[in-house]
Amino acid sequence: MLCLGIETSCDETAVALVENGRLLGQRLASQVDVHALFGGVVPEIASREHLRVLPGLYRALLEETGVRSEVISCIAVSRGPGLLGALLIGLSFAKGLSLAIGAPLVGVNHLHAHLLAAGLERDIPFPALGLLVSGGHTHTYAVHADHDFRLLGRTLDDAAGEAFDKAAKRLNLPYPGGKLIDDLASGTEPDHGMFPRAFIDNDSLDFSFSGLKTAVVNHVDAHPHLALPSLAGPEALAPEVRAELAVVCASFNWSVADTLRIKTERALRRVPEARALIVAGGVAANSMLRRTMTELAGRSGLELVLPSPSLCTDNAAMVACAGERLARAGFFHGLDLEAVPRGRKVPLDWVGLGA
Ligand code: KG4
Ligand code: ZN
Repeated sequence: MLCLGIETSCDETAVALVENGRLLGQRLASQVDVHALFGGVVPEIASREHLRVLPGLYRALLEETGVRSEVISCIAVSRGPGLLGALLIGLSFAKGLSLAIGAPLVGVNHLHAHLLAAGLERDIPFPALGLLVSGGHTHTYAVHADHDFRLLGRTLDDAAGEAFDKAAKRLNLPYPGGKLIDDLASGTEPDHGMFPRAFIDNDSLDFSFSGLKTAVVNHVDAHPHLALPSLAGPEALAPEVRAELAVVCASFNWSVADTLRIKTERALRRVPEARALIVAGGVAANSMLRRTMTELAGRSGLELVLPSPSLCTDNAAMVACAGERLARAGFFHGLDLEAVPRGRKVPLDWVGLGA
C-alpha cells in the first residue's frame, strides 16, 4: 500500500509518502518564523500559508520520490484536533486529490498519529500506555490497537508544550521556546525546589501546568535581569546571568518531566497489561523527558517507544503511517469527512471502502 500523508493542523505544512510502513520521502514547510513575529500562532496566517505552499510541496514530493500520483493507493489527512481553517486547507486538498486520482480518503486523528509515528522506525507492541505531550495537548491513553485509543488523563488547563512556550515568552526567548529552554538547560543541574510540580498530591491522572507557568513568570518578575533584552540571543547575557538562566531552565524542565513521570507511573498502575510505553508529540523531543521516560520504562520492565526527535514535532510522515495502518484495517472516510477543531472530540466515524 502506498499512502500519502497530509498535515496542516497548526503551523507546519507537510506531505509524506509511506509504503508498507516505510517512509519514501517527505516535504515540510515550517511557518515558525512568520508566527514568531507575533509570539504565537496566528490562525488566519497559518491557513493562508498552508494554502500558498501545499501544492508546491506535493509536486516536489512526487518529483523527489519519482512516484506518479495515479499509483497512490490512499490519502491520509490530519482531520483534527487543530486550527479549523488550517485543517480545512489540508482536507480540501486531500478531497480534491481523492476525486482526481480515485484513491480513498482516511481522516487521521492528529494526536493518535503522534503516538503511532514511531511505527516508521520499529514495531509498536500493544497494549501500550501512550503519553502524548505537544503544544496543544497533554494526554495519556491506553492504546490497544492502531485504532483503539482510550483516554485516561488530560490537562485541565495548559498543555506541557504551552507551558514551555509561555515560560520561554516571559524570558523573551523566541516562539516556540521549548527547544531553546531544553538547549539552555543542557548540562545544568536542576534546583528541585525552584518550581512546583502541580496537581500531583491526588489520585487523578489529569495534569495541570498553568501554576508552573505562573511560577516561572513570578520568578522572572522578581529577577528581571533573567529576561533577554529584546531581539537578543542568550549570548548577549553576562556569563553569570546565563548560568542563572540555565538553572531556571533546567529546574523548569525537571518540574515538567517529573510531573509527567509521576502521572505516567500512576497511569501504568491502571493499565497493568501494558507491554510498552509510548511517548510522543513535540515535547517528547525534550532531552530531560527522554531520559526520565527511558529510566521509567526500564524500571517498569516496559519497552520504550520513543520516536526520533524529528518525528516528535508535527510532520506528515506520522499521518501517512497512521493512515496506512487504518486503511490496512479497513477504516476509510467518504468525501464528507469533517475537520475537528481543538476542544471537540474527534469522532470514530470511519466507513468501509466504497461506502
Ligand atoms: O507536536 P507539536 O509539534 O505541535 C502540536 O501538535 O502542538 O508540539 C509543539 C510543541 C511546542 O510547544 C514546542 O515548544 C514543544 O513542542 N517542543 C519542545 C521541544 N521541542 C519542541 N518542548 C520541550 N523541549 C523540546 N526539545
Ligand atoms: Zn502535533
